[in-house]
Amino acid sequence: METKVLKPLTNTREDAAIKTAAEILSDGGLVGLPTETVYGLAANAYDEAAVRAIFAAKGRPQDNPLIVHIAAFEELFTLCRAVPASARRLAAAFWPGPLTMILPKSDRVSGAVSAGLDTVAVRMPSHPAASAVIEAAGVPLAAPSANLSGSPSPTTAAHVLADLRGRIPLVLDGGACSVGLESTVLSLTGDVPKVLRPGGVTPAQLEAVLGAVEIDYAVEHQIAADARVASPGMKYKHYAPKARVTIVDGPFEAFAAYLHAHRGEGVYALCFAGEEAALDAPCVVYGGADDEAEQARSLFAALRALDEAGAARVYARCPKKQGVALAVYNRLLRAAAFEVITL
Ligand code: TXA
Ligand code: MG
Repeated sequence: METKVLKPLTNTREDAAIKTAAEILSDGGLVGLPTETVYGLAANAYDEAAVRAIFAAKGRPQDNPLIVHIAAFEELFTLCRAVPASARRLAAAFWPGPLTMILPKSDRVSGAVSAGLDTVAVRMPSHPAASAVIEAAGVPLAAPSANLSGSPSPTTAAHVLADLRGRIPLVLDGGACSVGLESTVLSLTGDVPKVLRPGGVTPAQLEAVLGAVEIDYAVEHQIAADARVASPGMKYKHYAPKARVTIVDGPFEAFAAYLHAHRGEGVYALCFAGEEAALDAPCVVYGGADDEAEQARSLFAALRALDEAGAARVYARCPKKQGVALAVYNRLLRAAAFEVITL
C-alpha cells in the first residue's frame, strides 16, 4: 500500500487533508495523526476490525490496551460507566492536553480497545489537527503512538513514515510535536489517583488539583516481564534504539571521565547542549541540562539519530527525576533497558 502524506492547511473540518483523513477512518482505515505529545496511529474506536488492524500494523502485543481520543468532554459519558468528580476537575484543568485518565469502561468500548480490561484510557488532545479529525470523523479515535512496537515514539511525520510506510494509507503532517513524550497516564479506578506513566502533566500539577497522588512503582523500576501490572505498556522493552544504552548518573565531570575511559569505535554520548566540546566521543544532544521541556521534545528524535549514526554503545547523561524530567527519565530508562551506573 502506498502511504500518502498530507499537510492540513487550516485544521478545520472543511480542510481537504482533514476530510481525507476522516473518510479513511470512516471506511475502517488507519491514519497517522499529529498530537501535541507524539504522533498517533488512529482508527475509529467503535470499529473492532479497524482497531485490530492497529495492532497488526504496529506489531503490538494484544494485551496492551489503547487510548481513546475525544474532542468534547461529554464523550466521556459514552465511553465510561462512571465519571467521578475528580475526572471533571482534571478535565477542567488539563484538557485538551497531555493527560490520559483511566476510568471504568462502558459497553461501547470493545475488548479490542481495552485489551480485555474493564477500564478505558481516555484523552482529549490539544493539537488542532487531532481535534479537527476527531470532529470530522464524528467518532472517538483509538490511537497508540504511531511507531513500530518497541521503537521510539514518533514526534514528526517523517518518523511515522520511517516505521509505517507501506502499512498505512495516510499520515497527516502537523509538524513537530510540542511536548514530545507521550501523555501522563493517571488511573482513577482506585482509592488514590495513581500515575501509571509520567508525561507533560507533572505529579505536582496533578496534586494541585487532586490532593495526594501515588506514582506507580513501575515508573522508575524494572518489573518482571510476567508480572501483573496496572498499565500493561510499562512492562515491555520500549523506545529502544539499536545500540545498547547506559544511563550514567552523576556530575558532568565524572560522566566525562567515565566516557573517556570507555571511548572506542561506535561509542556515542547522549548529552545535554553545550557539553559536546568537553566529551571524548561523537555526541547527540537532547536539550539543555536545565531545560526539561526541550529534553522531552528532543529525546525520541535523539534516539532515532543515534540509530542513523550507527551507534553501537551509548552513554547517556541522566535527567532529573522530577517534574517533566521524570517523564524524560522514565523513557530513557526503558531505552537503556534499566541499565544505570551511578558515579
Ligand atoms: O500521548 C499519548 O498518550 C499518545 C498519543 C498518540 O495520544 N498515545 C500513546 O499510546 O502513547 P500508547 O498506546 O503508545 O500508550 C498507551 C499507554 C500504554 O502504556 C497502555 O498500557 C496504557 O496507556 N493504557 C491504555 N489503556 C489502559 C487501561 N485501560 N489501563 C491501564 N493502562 C492503559
Ligand atoms: Mg507507544
